[in-house]
Amino acid sequence: MREIILSMKKIDKRFAGVHALKGVDFDLRAGEIHALVGENGAGKSTLMKALTGIFPKDTGEIHYLGKLYNPRGPKEALSRGIGIIHQELNMMEHLTVAQNIFIGRESTRGKSFFLDEKAQNKRAADLFKRLNMDIDPTEKLSSLTVGKQQMVEIAKAVSHNLKVLILDEPTAALTETEINELFSIMRDLANKGVGMIYISHRMDEIGKITDRVTVLRDGEYVGTDDTSNLSKEDIINWMVGRVIYEDPKAQSNVPADAETVLKVKGLNAGRLVKDVSFELKKGEILGFAGLMGAGRTETARALFGADKIETGIIEIGGRPVKISSPMDAVRHGIGYLSEDRKRYGLAVNLDVTDNSIMASYDKYQKGLFIHEKNIDEITEEYVNSLKIKTPSVEQLIKNLSGGNQQKVVIAKWLIKDSDILIFDEPTRGIDVGAKSEIYTLMNELAKAGKSIIMISSELTEILRMSDRVVVMCEGRITGELDIKDANQEEIMKLATKRD
Ligand SMILES: Nc1ncnc2c1ncn2[C@@H]1O[C@H](COP(=O)(O)OP(=O)(O)OP(=O)(O)O)[C@@H](O)[C@H]1O
Ligand SMILES: [Mg+2]
Repeated sequence: MREIILSMKKIDKRFAGVHALKGVDFDLRAGEIHALVGENGAGKSTLMKALTGIFPKDTGEIHYLGKLYNPRGPKEALSRGIGIIHQELNMMEHLTVAQNIFIGRESTRGKSFFLDEKAQNKRAADLFKRLNMDIDPTEKLSSLTVGKQQMVEIAKAVSHNLKVLILDEPTAALTETEINELFSIMRDLANKGVGMIYISHRMDEIGKITDRVTVLRDGEYVGTDDTSNLSKEDIINWMVGRVIYEDPKAQSNVPADAETVLKVKGLNAGRLVKDVSFELKKGEILGFAGLMGAGRTETARALFGADKIETGIIEIGGRPVKISSPMDAVRHGIGYLSEDRKRYGLAVNLDVTDNSIMASYDKYQKGLFIHEKNIDEITEEYVNSLKIKTPSVEQLIKNLSGGNQQKVVIAKWLIKDSDILIFDEPTRGIDVGAKSEIYTLMNELAKAGKSIIMISSELTEILRMSDRVVVMCEGRITGELDIKDANQEEIMKLATKRD
């Protein structure tokens, strides 16, 4: 067994009102991939931020390569060989790929101060080649998909000579192929002796890629064991203190004579929405399955007025409507929980109340005034029913854990009382416990007569939640299945049905 290169002992950290880490222990061997798991808000990211000096721990000790280690900031951590890929993308959108990778250590020509862009692009190209990534170094970062941006961040981390690499939910925005690429890079690094700390909510990945697992619950250390000794159920049980089952839905809950609330006919928008037609019934959960890039999000964005509709008819409640902006969509009772919540769903510098009420100000406005007390109260109700973990409704969104931020976006559309809800990857980055709470919530909404379009890349989620499944491939709907006829094979067949 290889030597322990890093050991964290009794790490404690408090924020105002939150005891985020309560004496947590953690160690890492050279060349191992060590999973760090726990529910949203358990303290995973906080532990890693203490390790990289993003903020100081309150008490506890870190030993690294045999010495006491106390980084004053991420730069120092990096220079000592500890790098982190954050949960939130951390790059400069307006710079090129190569500029992002070498920011702060640019290639210069000879001894001059002038940047040698060419040399830098070449270095980036070599790096991508070595990592088997198909990315153009000269491209602006903003023109890449979120998944590709994430790959750039990974390449950037790998370009430093690291002994410890922390990956905080790196796969949330990656496609199947990209995930496999990442795993092969990780195995390669492990063979070279790099120790990795891997944070993920996807249990399958943990079984596939990691050697050991450490579990945190509510800021406390629960335990560590070899991955091969643990079943998926064991890990979940450690995380949430109970067992959660994930059975597929046996049959549709929607009565045959339910009214049609939304009818889409021949919708065309951009490259990825081609002649899309479907209907949504009252009280229905309509699953949208497909591979990344199939056009599901683009269809949602067009329906929500975020992208321009070229041709097509949208009927709501039997009447044709014109949707040319999100405001139109909201007025017609459509809510959209976007897949990229940081970019479109949240104002991270505002507090929980402001974000929850954002779409519903008109409801709480009396003349020129907003009733602060009312909006705090209503927000508190949703914070409780959605079990959003926050010390108060006045906490800033950026201080919530990733999964709890997601729940705030859900609260926003529930408070708005939208009749048609589009949930785009609603449980991405959400832990198993909160996930099953969100499922329960969606079922309750449907029962109360709301209609839901649920876009999901997780087939188990599609099969568990949907009454009916629409499958897309390359911008077209390639099939529609009643839930009782749907299974993984059938959906995959349609998801890869190109014409
Ligand atoms: N800068 C901060 N200020 C105040 N509270 C914070 C701050 N950062 C984190 N917290 C709180 O500390 C706790 C742990 O958060 P952390 O981000 O470590 O959770 P996590 O395990 O990474 O969760 P997730 O899976 O959702 O990413 C949460 O209650 C969070 O709200
Ligand atoms: Mg986190």
